[in-house]
Amino acid sequence: MAIETTLSILKPDAVRKNVIGQIVSRFEAAGLQVVAAQLRHLSRREAEAFYAVHSERGFFKDLVEFMISGPVFVQALRGEGAIALNRDLMGATDPKKAAPGTIRADFADSIDANAVHGSDSVETARAEVAFFFPTLAIHAR
Ligand code: CMP
Repeated sequence: MAIETTLSILKPDAVRKNVIGQIVSRFEAAGLQVVAAQLRHLSRREAEAFYAVHSERGFFKDLVEFMISGPVFVQALRGEGAIALNRDLMGATDPKKAAPGTIRADFADSIDANAVHGSDSVETARAEVAFFFPTLAIHAR
């Protein structure tokens, strides 16, 4: 399997609950390495740009409002098959459907306040990592 770099966001609900460390520990325990990170409060413009792919969806306005409701912890994670591994660790988007032991099952409250975001493909990971960490060389090891 290839070494990949993926984008992970710990959303405002996770930051408010003070569980950044607990969630990052799960990624580390699974073999992923944090290669870039920042705690920041997104502007409306940034949140709308990041989630532009969802701009026509009915949930877009609520999603943007939620993502700017407090600081987020954005990180780039690197490792073998990092994109799929991150998604396995997160669990289903809707925490009610997330498998036991996944991050969303353990820390998320609703489909909006679902604790974490993770890139869903190689192309998305490349674009999302570049959005927040433009100087990070994705294939540098
Ligand atoms: P995320 O992985 O950050 O990608 C887009 C987000 O939109 C998703 O997690 C959810 O938090 C939110 N969302 C709200 N409603 C829906 C929905 N019906 N389908 C997918 N995502 C949704």
